[in-house]
Amino acid sequence: MRFKDNGAERDIRALWFEDGELVMMDQRLLPRDVIFIRYNDHKEVADAIRDMVTRGAPSIGAAAAYGMALAALNGADLAEAATVIKAARPTANDLFYAVDHMIGRISAGDDPLKSADSYVSAIVDNCMAIGMHGAPLIKDGYTVMTHCNAGALATVDVGTALAPIRVAWSEGRRFKVLASETRPRLQGLQLTAWELIHEGIDHAVIVDGASGHFMRRGVDMVIVGADRIVANGDFANKVGTYEKAVIAKELGIPFYVAAPVSTFDFDTASGDDIIIEERDSEEITRIGGEDVAPVGVQVLNPAFDVTPFRYVTAYITEKGILTAKDIDAMRSE
Ligand code: MRU
Repeated sequence: MRFKDNGAERDIRALWFEDGELVMMDQRLLPRDVIFIRYNDHKEVADAIRDMVTRGAPSIGAAAAYGMALAALNGADLAEAATVIKAARPTANDLFYAVDHMIGRISAGDDPLKSADSYVSAIVDNCMAIGMHGAPLIKDGYTVMTHCNAGALATVDVGTALAPIRVAWSEGRRFKVLASETRPRLQGLQLTAWELIHEGIDHAVIVDGASGHFMRRGVDMVIVGADRIVANGDFANKVGTYEKAVIAKELGIPFYVAAPVSTFDFDTASGDDIIIEERDSEEITRIGGEDVAPVGVQVLNPAFDVTPFRYVTAYITEKGILTAKDIDAMRSE
């Protein structure tokens, strides 16, 4: 992703491996500070995923792959390492996919670090393919709505929902992105807007509750990412996605889900079986380090919601633009 720092422009990634260590941008500090933390132990990587130093399904998978490589390089018990890393967060399929992929490669005798490197380059290549498949859907003059951050930060580089947006913009089409702020952790305001600013893409951030208002006024398409897409096409994504999908159907607005194959969970039949992460109540009751809620308040804080497949116009994947009926065939490919 492009990063403009005091006039200088450079390309950075959400994470990479260097000199025996996993280096991750601390996404909790964006947009104020761009700071990188170094990890040489898989347990610390698991903690970093839990604490959301890195986040977004494919970036979580990438961190997990390097976590498994570190476990192997440090001579740790791989089954135990897999359990520790898989326990970091429950919803994003990529976490489980990446750990299982690494166990398979290492057991087959492949070099752990090379396996993690190639897992991560495949993520970025797949995101670029998602961008190329999805970009023609975005026309000049469109208003495109997205939610949370499904950009380069969430996928090491390029993005899923933001990939078609990046490609269409680089091809010269001009449109506006509406990014909902994404309470309580503000991934839309702090991460998606940060990426769009650095790419020079026209955008506006709206509060989550304004989505219906803007959709009635003229949104041309919605594109979101996913944390897990199950066999029937139901999918989990950042809480607040479901409302947008229902309103989109009500208003006849196309609703797209952009995700790589690592996000597809072919073994789960329907969205009712997806485990939804519940996060700490302080994410809601504290703002800027200050308590903002009355003492004794009770809070519910699910990080994700499930949208049934019937609200999805199509899934933009590295294999092309698919419908729910195509998902089963992907499994065997
Ligand atoms: O809690 P987060 O920030 O990890 O949630 C991220 C999302 O919900 C993204 O939309 C999803 O992972 C897709 S990222 C390409």
